Amino acid sequence: MDLITIDTWADAQPHDYRPDLESGNVLFFPATPFSLPEATKELLRSLDFSGTAVHKNIAYRPASDRITGVDAGAEEQLRAVFKDYSRNVVRFAADLLPDYAKKWKLDYASFRPLEEQGRDLPTNKRNDLMHTDAFPSRPVHGNLILRIFTNIHPTKSRVWVTSDPFTKVAERYAKDAGLDDLAAEAASTMGRLRGQTVHAMSGLGLPIADRSAYDRFMLRFHEYLKRNEEYQRDWASYRFEFPPGSTWLVFTDVVPHSVHSGQHALEQTIIVARDSMADPEKAPVSILQRLCGKPLLGQAAW
Ligand SMILES: [Fe+2]
Repeated sequence: MDLITIDTWADAQPHDYRPDLESGNVLFFPATPFSLPEATKELLRSLDFSGTAVHKNIAYRPASDRITGVDAGAEEQLRAVFKDYSRNVVRFAADLLPDYAKKWKLDYASFRPLEEQGRDLPTNKRNDLMHTDAFPSRPVHGNLILRIFTNIHPTKSRVWVTSDPFTKVAERYAKDAGLDDLAAEAASTMGRLRGQTVHAMSGLGLPIADRSAYDRFMLRFHEYLKRNEEYQRDWASYRFEFPPGSTWLVFTDVVPHSVHSGQHALEQTIIVARDSMADPEKAPVSILQRLCGKPLLGQAAW
């Protein structure tokens, strides 16, 4: 996998970056490629995350203009700040990736305020162990997780280590992680009935995650990789330092990644429709379906 550096993208000829991302590369901008005022960065860096007033992460939902993880007194100001950030980063991403933008769905924006090095977290929540992303509360039904990160620390780089992309990792480990059993269960009469029931309940507005077999596998694989000592030891291959002010884009379900150090990162997540890919056969769900020979998607949520 490669870091594809884009120094002067505003001046560049239009280029289709989809194949680069879908193959498991990282698009890297040494300078922030969208408007991000210094006052915004200073405000976010000055927030006090040591007490109980604010939580460990701020999350903003662009679709509903809601913010969580902040104390009531700061809510109005921070919501305005995040609304502005989210709008600017999404506009930039839509200019960069217009073929995705036609169908994508905006997910959360977030701010990660804590130093990543030395955090004391349970295994499944550790960021310094290599993993592919999956969201327990927001199933993607075979679509992809595109994340745009910006390091807003004034002096420190954010250090990532990644491994070969999903296709290689899945070939080696997906069956060990239980892919065949999960696919067989989902294809069984009981499995299909359960899927239809959950889908119907979710459609009625009940608070239940309508996960496809693919979503369930990806949640399982996230934890499997973090707990696999051989994978953690032998597969870490590529180390990247993202300096202050830089921005990078990556499919975090295609690229296994781990964060080793760094503080103060802004991030916007976007769910990219599989059928807007340059090559939908490179989607993790396509790779897994080939490996197990069974469908992993039931009734699509969108
Ligand atoms: Fe991650």
